[in-house]
Amino acid sequence: MADYKTPRGTQDILPAETRKWNEVEELIRSVCYYYGYDEIRTPIFEDTKVFKRENDSSDMVNKEMYTFSIHQEDSLTLRPEGTAGVIRSFVQHKMFGNMEMPAKLYYMGEMFRYERPQKGRYRQFNQFGVENIGVKSPLVDAEIIALGYSIVKALGLSQIKVIVNTLGDDESRKNYREKLKEHFKDSVADLCGDCQRRYEQNPLRLLDCKIDKDHPSMLNVPRMHDSLTEESKEYFQEVLQALDALEIPYEIDDRLVRGLDYYTHTVFEVVSTHPESGSQATVFAGGRYDGLVEYFHGPQMSGVGFAMGLERLMILAEAEGIELGKQDGIDVYVMALGNVGTKPLEIATACRANGFVSEFNILPRSLKAQFKSVDRKQAKVVVIVGEEELKDHKVNVKCVATQTQVTVDLDKVVETVEEMLEKEGE
Ligand code: HAM
Repeated sequence: MADYKTPRGTQDILPAETRKWNEVEELIRSVCYYYGYDEIRTPIFEDTKVFKRENDSSDMVNKEMYTFSIHQEDSLTLRPEGTAGVIRSFVQHKMFGNMEMPAKLYYMGEMFRYERPQKGRYRQFNQFGVENIGVKSPLVDAEIIALGYSIVKALGLSQIKVIVNTLGDDESRKNYREKLKEHFKDSVADLCGDCQRRYEQNPLRLLDCKIDKDHPSMLNVPRMHDSLTEESKEYFQEVLQALDALEIPYEIDDRLVRGLDYYTHTVFEVVSTHPESGSQATVFAGGRYDGLVEYFHGPQMSGVGFAMGLERLMILAEAEGIELGKQDGIDVYVMALGNVGTKPLEIATACRANGFVSEFNILPRSLKAQFKSVDRKQAKVVVIVGEEELKDHKVNVKCVATQTQVTVDLDKVVETVEEMLEKEGE
């Protein structure tokens, strides 16, 4: 038994899986290209203060961060999400001054959260995320949702649902916080420890509690909508109109507040309705943030974005029977019969240099065993390097589909392979 194993909540992604990942990542990059988003890569760890912002009430910041310090240097944290690092970078490199606004950035990579692992929830996981910074418009909010939506659609997922809400502007949230404080003031002592902390720090997040969701005080909570300013209502209406215009179906969930603290106005979650998605059904989620750029000492600029859990995307693709990572057969397999030295390696290398996917036989093996490799690798053309033929400077080249075989001069091998592959492709 292996004594060395991946740490809890982490996983190896083996070759059969990485092929699928690569295909999905390529699809994502291509959608980003069409939407005009450029990639940004920020460090996997940052100063802790990039993530741990004053008075943050989220579980992610308070309970789930991998924080460490080395040689008495300042505290560092493995990134639990991408947004904070991207905004830190946006301000540090003054992108607001030297780029066309909005800045349209995307990222893909590992994130780390100390959570209880289960299917679809890991301690190291991968997110694809986008951030659109510098222009506040309901059209951008809708465009961002459309970007994520077109990725899940292009992948072929059909059982998904878009859920949207608005948290309004500062004034709306202030009104709402006061109403919530009033509403929960007599019951807060009965609620869980987290809710008691949320009551003080950010009462909106009481609505996100999984433990007390059935507590009587949760049943008749005041509605966010009734606390919204006219401007906030109007902003949200325009987001919805844009989603209608793009024919993106959605549901409004007045209690959707999201797990992170920085959101203002539009918030959304896109969830799978497939029975196998279980409790970790959110494929991508995000929203607008009016205060983050300023928090990092940049100008007052708003942004909007989302992040998509790639492990979840892969799980759902599989559950919906979407076939990914199909492997094509190789072009050329070079066989070795007898003592032929480096010749098979040379021929495979020359074929590769001409753009053909090629492999050669390494071990001394029977012809039969080598033909098994040809089958397994679904090679289209076989080059047979035999000791006898080689004395005359010749090899045999065989097309697998037609079984035609020719004997050619060594310096004509690549040319013959090319002709056979061309004919095969017709
Ligand atoms: P989030 O809701 O914390 O948002 O995470 C976004 C997505 O990451 C989730 O919907 C889920 O698919 C995936 N995810 C989160 N935690 C885990 C986990 N432990 N294991 C597997 N997948 C996970 C954010 O991270 C924000 N930064 C999104 C955003 C970008 N908002 C604005 N811009």
